Amino acid sequence: MTQLLEVEDLRAGYGSVPVLQGVTFSVAEGETAVMFGLNGAGKSTTVNTIAGLLKTWGGKVTFDGEVISGLPASEIVKRGVSLCPEGRRVFPQLSVRTNLELGAWTNRSVQAEQLERVFGYFPRLEERSAQMAGTLSGGEQQMLAIGRALMSKPRLLLIDEASLGLSPKLTQTVFQVVDQINDDGTTVVIVEQNVGVLPYADQALVMQKGTITFDGRGEALAKTGDLRAAYLG
Ligand SMILES: Nc1ncnc2c1ncn2[C@@H]1O[C@H](COP(=O)(O)OP(=O)(O)O)[C@@H](O)[C@H]1O
Ligand SMILES: [Mg+2]
Repeated sequence: MTQLLEVEDLRAGYGSVPVLQGVTFSVAEGETAVMFGLNGAGKSTTVNTIAGLLKTWGGKVTFDGEVISGLPASEIVKRGVSLCPEGRRVFPQLSVRTNLELGAWTNRSVQAEQLERVFGYFPRLEERSAQMAGTLSGGEQQMLAIGRALMSKPRLLLIDEASLGLSPKLTQTVFQVVDQINDDGTTVVIVEQNVGVLPYADQALVMQKGTITFDGRGEALAKTGDLRAAYLG
């Protein structure tokens, strides 16, 4: 299987404090990988470093066979990697539609096509396209954040904490849409706290103290007891 994303011995941190202590994993094209880990383990630091928002201290990230670590974040988006960051961070004073359009700033030519795709996944966003984003519910803002990340037509979508603060019902809706996005050909890495995402995943990772301590697929995934043990370690 072709590995779309390869993370090798990745190191990063803040100021002089190291957080990622050599993170290594890869994700095959077309699959969904879920990353678990306790608060502070380094999950957001990992996806933010892959997306180029944080400087790489060591190691490398390869996307579709080319090294992307060290490139500016905007170039990484252009190569086909998009991040839906933790905490949603939509522009509250701008309309839903404008928020989405801004997601396509690196590639205007795909804007119309992707807008239609996002409205297909999230009809609620189409109904509310003229509404100010800040007046949406938490669940709708999460849909908008995922939609915005899709607007650049990524081959790899990184989603950081999709279900945080959502009701169980909305959480399921979000997982189902992520599954659909994956079925439509986008490779997904999703950082999650909720093991309810497992039925949608091909690969599960656990991060602890800045390293990957579990990397399993197939049968190992079915044994969620093992995963829980590793996750809660
Ligand atoms: N902006 C920041 N400045 C300094 N330290 C940070 C910053 N963001 C995260 N950290 C620290 O890095 C570590 C990993 O954080 P993070 O990657 O956010 O973990 P997770 O997403 O797994 O909860 C934590 O110890 C956290 O306090
Ligand atoms: Mg985080």
